[in-house]
Order: sequence, then C-alpha cells, then structure tokens
Amino acid sequence: MPQQKITKVVIPVAGLGTRLLPATKSQPKEMLPVGRKPVVQYVVEEMQAAGIEQILFVTGRKKMAIEDHFDADPELVKTLSSGGGYALLEELKYTETDVRFFYTRQSVPLGLGDAVNHAREFANDDHFVVALGDSIIKSDDGSNFTRKMMDLHLREGADCTLAVEEVDPDETYRYGIVKPRAGQEDRDVFEVEDLVEKPKLGTAPSNLAIAARYVFSPAIFEAIRRTAPDRQGELQLTDSIRLLIQLGHKVQAVRLRPGERRYDIGNFESYFKAFIDFALADEKYGYMIRQYLKRKAREL
Ligand code: UTP
Repeated sequence: MPQQKITKVVIPVAGLGTRLLPATKSQPKEMLPVGRKPVVQYVVEEMQAAGIEQILFVTGRKKMAIEDHFDADPELVKTLSSGGGYALLEELKYTETDVRFFYTRQSVPLGLGDAVNHAREFANDDHFVVALGDSIIKSDDGSNFTRKMMDLHLREGADCTLAVEEVDPDETYRYGIVKPRAGQEDRDVFEVEDLVEKPKLGTAPSNLAIAARYVFSPAIFEAIRRTAPDRQGELQLTDSIRLLIQLGHKVQAVRLRPGERRYDIGNFESYFKAFIDFALADEKYGYMIRQYLKRKAREL
C-alpha cells in the first residue's frame, strides 16, 4: 500500500562550517543565533509544524551543543522556578515535545550524500525529509513549505521532491541548479530533467537553485551507493539525485513563491542578512531595531 504519511526527517549538521570561521572554530554553525534562537531550532520547529514525529541528526565532532539544546535541563528549570524566573521558563518549553530525537555520527564530513547515507537504517522502508540544519524557510503567511512538499511528494508518487528558489543568474555557481522538463519551466511544481552542482558561470541550465529541503523515497540509498565521489572525495547529493533521474525515477521540484524565503546562514553575508530580518520581525524588539536602523541609515 502506498505510504500515507511522512513522519521522519534527517537533519545533517556534521559539516565544518569553515566559511564562518572563527565563529565556528569550537561551536556548530547550526547553533549560531538568528534573532533569539539558534538556526537549528527554527528547522526543528518547522519540521514539528509539518507533522514530523522522528528526527535524526547526522552530527560530528564539536556538535554536542545541538544534542544539549534539544534535551531537558532539570537543573536550569529548578533554578528558574525557585528564583521566580517563570517568564524565562516559557523559553524552555520547546524541549517539552513528543518528537523523538536520534543521533548518528558522520566521523568525516564526506559530503551531503554521505551524510544522508547515514540515515539508511533510520529511514528503513519509509519516505523521509532531509532538511539542512543551517537553513530556515520562512513563509509570510505562516504556511509550512515542507508540509506542502510532503503532500505533493506522496500525491505525485515521486521518489524525490526538491524545494527550489529563483536566484540571481550571476549567483548560480554557488548552488545546485535544476533543469525543468521542457514545457514545464513556468510551473510551480515541475519535473526535473537534470541538475548540476555549482555550474560554471554562463553554463547553468536555469536560475532555480535547490533550497535546503528534500523529500526522498528509499530509492535514494541505492542511488547514493552507485554515486562516485567527486574530486575532493565527497559524495554530492546532487549527483545521486541526477542518478535517480537516469535510473528512471520521478524527481520533481516545488518552487518557493513570493512571500516564501530561504535563509541560508552558510556565509557571513547571508548570516548577517538573516539576523537583520529576524531581528526586525521580532515581536518584542522589532520596533526598536527598526527605529535604530532608520537612524543608522541616515548616517550611511
Ligand atoms: P554546507 O556544505 O553548507 O556546510 O552544508 P559546511 O560544509 O559545514 O560549510 P563550509 O563549506 O565548510 O563553510 C549544508 C549542511 O549540511 C551539513 C552541514 O552541517 C550543513 O548544515 N553537512 C555538510 C553534513 O552534515 N555533512 C557533510 O559532509 C557536509
């Protein structure tokens, strides 16, 4: 019987975060705050809201802070309770969840394909989501993009569903870029004919970049097994998805619409921009930050 519901997500957080050094020398980049919360907390909350019940983190060395962040902290709760810090107790509510957390280690960060391969037993025979731990997807209307992807994935009987966003044509060399099937270029949901990781300038098949969220059937594991490492010895997930297409599996993409935005904190420019947007949107501090920025802008 076809699967009715997707309940598992894999969150890879084992990368070295070298582009954010020295901030990431001894702490995970996924724990860097965007506004009031670490980036990975947004990812987990987005997955909970999508109906996910089990989360597997693919972690590595220096990533223990992520485990601690999602674990209960009875000592802290006791201190806050006895000291009258009830308002602050509210900030720890996110740890009281029915979602079950699992952890596995990717000892050497050999690429996203290798990280996902660590989820083979966790996924078992189920379709599952992959959500990058350093990227947030925000919808102005509060809708859940991953939820939409999961529904479309099952409804269309796909083996892979990718989130894609339009990027500046000069920036395509930074991303995995998809080529829509001919005639489907303008659709919000389209079949992917091919894809290429970080194409050289002027060679990208479109300006649609893969945007940190994927849904897979277990067929991805066979594709990863058959994928050759790149020149750096890394297994690129994009290459495995390409193989999926060549093996005749259905790969589709869902486009982020206006009002839906991906924030990737992988480099300082995008990290700073994300922080500013979330600080401006903050319920309590947003107004003050807006006033501050307006004053500041006059001096620039
Ligand atoms: P990135 O390639 O952006 O992260 O991976 P990175 O390798 O940590 O960054 P740089 O290039 O050194 O600055 C996106 C996500 O995938 C995870 C990362 O932790 C990040 O959350 N990842 C990446 C893994 O889990 N394993 C890998 O082998 C590579």
